[in-house]
Amino acid sequence: MLIDSYQRKLNYLRLSITDRCNFNCVYCMPHGMRFKLAHEDILTYEEFLVIARAAVSEGVTKIRLTGGEPLVRKNLIKFITDLSELPSPPELCLTTNGLLLDDLADDLYKAGISRINISLDSLDPDNFKSITGHDEFDRVWRGMETALSRGFKQVKLNTVVIRGHNDHELADFARLSLDRPLEVRFIEYMPMGTVGYWSQDKFVSNAEMKESLAPLGALTPVESGNGDGPASKFRLPGAKGLVGLISPVTQHFCSSCNRLRLTADGKIRLCLHSNQEVDIKTPLRSGASEAELAAFLRRAVINKPQRHHLDQSLDHPSNRAMNLIGG
Ligand code: GTP
Ligand code: 5AD
Ligand code: SF4
Repeated sequence: MLIDSYQRKLNYLRLSITDRCNFNCVYCMPHGMRFKLAHEDILTYEEFLVIARAAVSEGVTKIRLTGGEPLVRKNLIKFITDLSELPSPPELCLTTNGLLLDDLADDLYKAGISRINISLDSLDPDNFKSITGHDEFDRVWRGMETALSRGFKQVKLNTVVIRGHNDHELADFARLSLDRPLEVRFIEYMPMGTVGYWSQDKFVSNAEMKESLAPLGALTPVESGNGDGPASKFRLPGAKGLVGLISPVTQHFCSSCNRLRLTADGKIRLCLHSNQEVDIKTPLRSGASEAELAAFLRRAVINKPQRHHLDQSLDHPSNRAMNLIGG
């Protein structure tokens, strides 16, 4: 078992399989920003698989693939199939920007992905382009519709709310949950990495988001299920789907954190907002056995920080931009 010094059981592993992305979101990887990991520094699928196997042997039951944009990495479907064939296979989830989803949804489903989170920050094609740097709203929308029409257990939308960019679109987003089995999640914008785009005036709290949804009717709280992430969930009157609010800044959820992250360059990242990382690539490439890697993970998690301190200081974001951690 992977248990930290605060007795939290870490059973959810997030694999950032690439730092590459086919979008250039203003708050993450704006045009002109180049910080590519060298090819030889990026773990191979075989290496990810060895670590995943060790993690599963230590009680990990959920693995999420993130990036960058995970769907840009070649031969992903084979990797997912291999993960689904691990002994006591974990639940396999994916966070994607949706650009390649229309093409890949079928294969992802067949390979064993059961839950998909799609990042979508605007429903207006022009605004979408100004946020992501790419005129691709229609393709992402098609990807979402395709995902909804397949057998995935869950499809969620992730919307990072940024004042001046998309705070006027929240009601339109929430209305998507009325006639679709979607969970539309609004995320507080966190200062991350070295991009330097975050500022207090762009920040919108979950409380303010909730106020702007008031004209849609009462938001009825919905119990979170087992293994659910950090969102507080609500239902609009008569809605098929849900609205979720994620409040990493104003109300941290660290006491129930069950996450462990592995970056594309082979670092175990113990907390999204802590620069404390443990290099697992070196023992891996020196030939450590699965049992040795499992023991390495058990030791590494003991140092997981109790919580992040974004509420006290928003001026010292983590050293990695989001594309190098994967959320
Ligand atoms: P579910 O398993 O579907 O609930 O998804 P998830 O929330 O674990 O994953 P996703 O990749 O969709 O991330 C959603 C948002 O929550 C992103 O903005 C993340 O950065 C944020 N988030 C996820 N995990 C953490 C965390 O441990 N700490 C903080 N502060 N924010 C997080
Ligand atoms: N604050 C909050 N969420 C963010 N994401 C990326 N950068 C930030 C940030 N600074 C979201 C993406 C994606 C998820 C993994 O993290 O939109 O949905
Ligand atoms: Fe790419 Fe996601 Fe970063 Fe946007 S937030 S640039 S989609 S990695």
